[in-house]
Amino acid sequence: MQSIVVNSLLLPLLPLMLPCVLILLALKLWNIYIENTRDMNCSAPLPDGSMGIPFIGETVQFMFQGVDFYRKKFQKHGPIFKTHIIGKPTIRVIGTENVRRILQGDGDIVEQLYPKTIRSLLTSNSESILFSNGQVHERLRKVTSKVFHISRLASYVPFIQKYTDEAATRWCTGGRVSGQDECRSLLFRIAGKVMCNFDYDENETRHLSNVYQTMVDNIFSLPIDLPGSGFNKALKARNILHSKVEANLRDKREHAQCESEFVDALSLISDAMGECGKPVSAQQLKGFALELLFAGHTTSATAATMMLLYLAKHPDVLEKVRQELEEHDLENNVAPLTLEAVTKLKYVHCVVKEVLRISPPIGAGFRRVIKTFELGGKQIPAGWTVIFSIRETQNLAPNYSKPEEFDPERFMPDRQEDKKGDRFSYLPFSGGPRNCIGKQLALLMLKILLIQLTKSCRWKLVDPENVVVNLLPSPYPVDGLPLQFTRLDCNANRLDIKGKDRNGDVAC
Ligand code: HEM
Repeated sequence: MQSIVVNSLLLPLLPLMLPCVLILLALKLWNIYIENTRDMNCSAPLPDGSMGIPFIGETVQFMFQGVDFYRKKFQKHGPIFKTHIIGKPTIRVIGTENVRRILQGDGDIVEQLYPKTIRSLLTSNSESILFSNGQVHERLRKVTSKVFHISRLASYVPFIQKYTDEAATRWCTGGRVSGQDECRSLLFRIAGKVMCNFDYDENETRHLSNVYQTMVDNIFSLPIDLPGSGFNKALKARNILHSKVEANLRDKREHAQCESEFVDALSLISDAMGECGKPVSAQQLKGFALELLFAGHTTSATAATMMLLYLAKHPDVLEKVRQELEEHDLENNVAPLTLEAVTKLKYVHCVVKEVLRISPPIGAGFRRVIKTFELGGKQIPAGWTVIFSIRETQNLAPNYSKPEEFDPERFMPDRQEDKKGDRFSYLPFSGGPRNCIGKQLALLMLKILLIQLTKSCRWKLVDPENVVVNLLPSPYPVDGLPLQFTRLDCNANRLDIKGKDRNGDVAC
């Protein structure tokens, strides 16, 4: 009698219970499947974390929460946790010791990993600096390292200075400007010259910089080439950039480069590959050009934008830069800058370094695990993706006092906070065998930008109360960083130490 009553109560609930049971079953099977992808020869357990729902994993949460997704996981599970995003079982790793193990194990326990779409857009070369691994990568690194070696930098200084001055002049006369767009355009002009000897004026550069940006904005789209699709837009943009490189190569064949110290990266790579008995075709050079632009442009433009933002918020820092220029007789000096003069400026170096610490343009790196290993007592299985965090590793490193504060002095000789801790606590250019090849060039571009702007103008945030910075895929102010520039009229508009000009306005 009793069971008849229970059954009659449960019966109407059956249609509701069935989907719940199926969902629970699917989740159970999904977790069994994931557990089976672990390496059975390794006794260490998988890291803590959740693998989300079948196939989709936690991708949706990641898309909506961005960096907060990682923050919450870190708070719950600690510095090594597992998740499942963008179709892959993934382990994210934070902290100097953990990151060191991964970066020093490059080529041995892990290898470089980029989404296939990125590779298919940028290059069809098997010889590729970004996408190759093993011996091919080693050989290409040797060649490209020479191209960006510090000994080549002196020949880049004159045009970096010229382009920066031209941009600054325009910014000061143009009313409100978008700091982000302007930095992208300026850095594209410089990178185009260094890599390919592009010699476009500011208007042509702006157009090409926008084309390039269209490619980058759509680079993570699904590889479906239909009219109007993201991938289609990226392909079209890529083809325009290719045609510019091609025209430039033709031009170089027809008119030998004039006798200047400056030789562009593509020519140097082409010569060096020829010397190694691996001559390169025009097709391959187009691939190299886009790879190098991709690696070097977005990163530098991001750093430049964030530098403008931090200096607008910290007029005292800008004043110290000015004082350093004055001490080195550079403040009112209209003579061309030299590499030697730039290298002597210690405080300028610290400002750029601090921008890259507090807001690294690349927040994390991706690797595929090729050999199972253990990290902090947890198993990192072969076949999984491992993401090493640059941003959180720098932010959490104990050697930095008040790490959330923008404080360039932390790197000055009397404090040297980066030297007081693990070498891997300062990682904007990564570390190990795949660290950044363009590091010296990037630092030089940012320092010259800082020097020339400090010499010639001041800038302030148009909307200081509402600056919101998103961190993915790279840090960027959501409103594009509207700025108002004013030209410094010789000494008439100098700032005092509090950053006030003679009218009492905070200039930055
Ligand atoms: C502030 C600017 C820059 C930052 C923060 C930066 C950062 C980085 C980082 C973190 C990596 C390693 C990525 C990984 O391990 O997966 C890297 C690699 C690389 N960077 Fe930069 N970079 C900058 C500018 C440049 C410039 C100007 C160039 C010049 C072309 C460049 C060329 C490269 C190349 C070719 C690689 C790949 C190296 C390899 O795989 O062996 N970077 N960069």
